[in-house]
Amino acid sequence: MALLEILKFPDPRLRKKGVKVKEITPELKQFAKDLLETMYASKGIGLAAAQVNRQVRVVALDTRPREEGRYKVEDMTEMEQKVEQPMVLFNPEIVAKNGKTTYDEGCLSVPTYFETVTRYDVITVEALDVDGNKVTFTTDGLLAICIQHEIDHLDGKLFIDRLSPIKSARIKSKIKKFGYPDPRDAESVEDLEAIEAAET
Ligand code: NI
Repeated sequence: MALLEILKFPDPRLRKKGVKVKEITPELKQFAKDLLETMYASKGIGLAAAQVNRQVRVVALDTRPREEGRYKVEDMTEMEQKVEQPMVLFNPEIVAKNGKTTYDEGCLSVPTYFETVTRYDVITVEALDVDGNKVTFTTDGLLAICIQHEIDHLDGKLFIDRLSPIKSARIKSKIKKFGYPDPRDAESVEDLEAIEAAET
């Protein structure tokens, strides 16, 4: 087991696209375990290989409510509850999609920032599981949102790319200028906004 380092925007390595996995080797199985462990250690609900500087199409997910989560069991949809989690998906692909939904998304690679993103509401996913078996399932709710967010990472995309052009540019320049709040001296992004307001 090993905790992996999570890259943060604007690290250019987050923009690299992942290649499909041809064979799930023992080394990749171990990597999948490390990915899950790193996700849990960071209190995340999803983590993509791209975020730990590995350009393969692998994502780890667990959207079930955990302690201190802002998401409760009652918030899980019936379809979401039927999907077994945690899960590691190799070569995940969305083969069907329907409807629209919005959620206040965050990302371990863009810590402390949350913005409303529009995604498909219901998706059908095809992937390989850790044993190389083909899996297909349909889901909605937070799991569907999270899967779309993680597949974006495999294509070098971040949720802050999916905002309006003005909002996207504003957040990116703010992060490039100020970095991320140090939890020791900044309570929230609002502190940084106050600094910025004072400067402009
Ligand atoms: Ni993310």
